[in-house]
Amino acid sequence: MTDKRFPKGFYWGTATASFQIEGATKEDGRGESIWDRFCATPGKIITGETGDPATDSYHRFMDDIALMKEMGLNAYRFSIAWPRILPDGDGSVCEKGLDYYDRVVDGLLDAGVRPFVTLYHWDLPQALQEKGGWANRATLDAYVHYSDIVVKRLGDRVKNWMTHNEPWCVSILSNEIGEHAPGNHDRKLALQIAHNLLVSHGMVVPVIRQRCPDGEVGIVLNLTPSYPATDSETDQALARQAHARSNLWFLDPVTGRGYPQDAWEGYGADVPQIRPGDMQTIAAPIDFLGINFYTRSVVHDPKGGEGSRVLNIRSETNQTGRNWEIYPQAMYDLLVSIRMGYNFKNIYLTENGASYHDMVSPDGKVHDGIRIDYLHKHFSVLLRAIESGVPVRGYFYWSLMDNFEWAFGTSSRFGVAYTDFDTQKRTLKDSGVWYGKVARGNTLLD
Ligand code: FCB
Repeated sequence: MTDKRFPKGFYWGTATASFQIEGATKEDGRGESIWDRFCATPGKIITGETGDPATDSYHRFMDDIALMKEMGLNAYRFSIAWPRILPDGDGSVCEKGLDYYDRVVDGLLDAGVRPFVTLYHWDLPQALQEKGGWANRATLDAYVHYSDIVVKRLGDRVKNWMTHNEPWCVSILSNEIGEHAPGNHDRKLALQIAHNLLVSHGMVVPVIRQRCPDGEVGIVLNLTPSYPATDSETDQALARQAHARSNLWFLDPVTGRGYPQDAWEGYGADVPQIRPGDMQTIAAPIDFLGINFYTRSVVHDPKGGEGSRVLNIRSETNQTGRNWEIYPQAMYDLLVSIRMGYNFKNIYLTENGASYHDMVSPDGKVHDGIRIDYLHKHFSVLLRAIESGVPVRGYFYWSLMDNFEWAFGTSSRFGVAYTDFDTQKRTLKDSGVWYGKVARGNTLLD
């Protein structure tokens, strides 16, 4: 054993999401999702693209699995498209949708890759949105119905279940900031949706346990540590507020602590309505926490006064192609603080990754040494966190291949495999080859 070795049985994977890879949005009875509608709205996607064909994984999932085999990965995180299973959101089931995921799961298992399934990664059926979407409590029941069908069908083979991906994005980013579908700008609505999502998470946990008693269930949160730009009182208070709003607002209810008091008071009249029993429902015991970590936020109040603008500072030099600061130490700080503050038995790094403006070189390869450097730095801190006792059981790089990156369309390339969107040919980048060596050896390479 060298000190660069990861624990035995560590899961090495990549992550994707249905809408970002499947394409075939009108095939085999799939219903419309809020992302289809959003993409069709001019100006919402910077490239003007839609979810068709994305990476056409509805037809090419065996190519995706071949990449995983080539890298020697032992896990894959992907999501189910609700509108493929229940085209109208509720009501009748589309068997062809279930058949597709059967094929994906069987293909993965044949290749020795363990499936980790996310039930909701943002593609809500449009029919439900028309009745209020996540703001309508009936959507929570529909989500339970949908989850029950999926886990009943796949639970004999899929043992790792995630209820939601990034409820902060589904609520705040999509309904207050308006950058993602359905594109609302309403804080009160967004906070009600955040609450309803958490309730729906808690409602689905026992359903998964019942349908898949030997499985494990958790939720995936995007956690962004916040740091004050200066040591002024104001900046420190702002950092605490940002932390409470984007991290504790989700972490605390899920672990039975309720909403953070200061943040609750700060939101004033925008706080959500809570029904009796909701907080107990949300706090259903889970087996793991999934963490998506990309960057940190640095907050500063330039005027030092009440009500002036909060600046989010990114370092000029050390950033990815999406201008996200590269600051791996924040991943370490985050993991250690979660270990100290909570009692999760298992943690997965369910997403982490970097987008760059990759190009195919004349030799036919993609020389993304910069991404290898990114990975190396994050694996180093991950290992340090594990050595200091944080129970991280697996790491999922976002993403397997360049895909449809939401409002950025295909312009933002996160993959360890390059996608030629004209031909749909996938090619492992240098980072993919390097990642494969780490995964096979379960050891961080120099
Ligand atoms: C996360 C999303 C994922 C992907 C990455 C870059 O917020 O969960 O679908 O878009 O960001």
